Amino acid sequence: MRSLLFVPGDSERKLAKGFEAGADRLILDLEDSVAPERKAAARTLTADAVRSAPVPVAVRVNALSSGLIEDDLAAIMPAGPAMIVLPKSDTGADVQHLSALLTVLEAENGLADGGTEILAIATETAASLFGLGTYRGSSARLAAMAWGAEDLSSALGATRTREADGTLTDPYRLARTLCLAGAVAAGAAPIDTVYTDFRDEAGLIATAKAAAADGFLGKLAIHPAQVGPINAAFTPSPEAIAHAQRVVDAFAAAPGAGVVGLDGAMLDRPHLVLAEQLLARAAAVRPPSA
Ligand code: COA
Ligand code: MG
Repeated sequence: MRSLLFVPGDSERKLAKGFEAGADRLILDLEDSVAPERKAAARTLTADAVRSAPVPVAVRVNALSSGLIEDDLAAIMPAGPAMIVLPKSDTGADVQHLSALLTVLEAENGLADGGTEILAIATETAASLFGLGTYRGSSARLAAMAWGAEDLSSALGATRTREADGTLTDPYRLARTLCLAGAVAAGAAPIDTVYTDFRDEAGLIATAKAAAADGFLGKLAIHPAQVGPINAAFTPSPEAIAHAQRVVDAFAAAPGAGVVGLDGAMLDRPHLVLAEQLLARAAAVRPPSA
């Protein structure tokens, strides 16, 4: 999943447009993009959209502590979403809690046991920064983890998340890094946060490329125009694929060697693992033009 596009769950127009955007995954939102008085209408609209969706979709429910998540899940699970996005997750125990709720609802709705995946948004509260090492082993459903800056900044009382030159301030760099390592440790895909300035394509491309270079496998999007640049940033380039293939070939040509030389540089086991991962990713994604 390179691009995951949020679509407000109470907007019929955006729900219709979302499917044309070319995102690898849509996240139909019942949480922050829906006003409290629109929650009930959003549940009905979103459940209908999940049912009629041409591809598997995700739904973001409200937080475990919101008092809304039980009604969200009761409305959505009969439609069989592929994935539930859990906002304001503090620790792996929150994922376990959601997983238990999903197990009951899958049984009640005749859905495959354990078939609903979870994406945890894992850096939205102050406490969550101390929980990023606890997701490993929490649930086989945990497929991805994303970080978020907007709710975290409001929790911390910060008036900014970036310096004037666009670089993240310390708390958000920490959240981003711990999310990346916590996700990889948990065997989940690390997903970069939204770029809220949706008219700034150059800024989006820079953050998406930096995230891909650091090891993130995808990025959240809030506007259809962000999908193309994000897909491109997370699709291995032909040059990167060719280089990875040469690394794999160099090791294949030297059976039993722990280390080989290529173009005057030393390559050992981590380089081979990286090259194999890149080739696997390239095989899994559609070309950027698709
Ligand atoms: N999904 C589907 N369609 C969307 C969309 C989205 N996330 N964002 C915009 N569109 C549609 C608009 O409806 C518009 O279509 P129309 O002209 O046929 O009505 C078109 O794309 C262009 O939109 P634009 O005018 O550039 O933006 P906007 O001012 O209408 O909307 C936002 C801006 C930020 C309100 C909108 O992009 C949005 O709702 N994003 C998702 C927000 C969200 O879910 N946040 C929670 C996660 S952080
Ligand atoms: Mg939020």
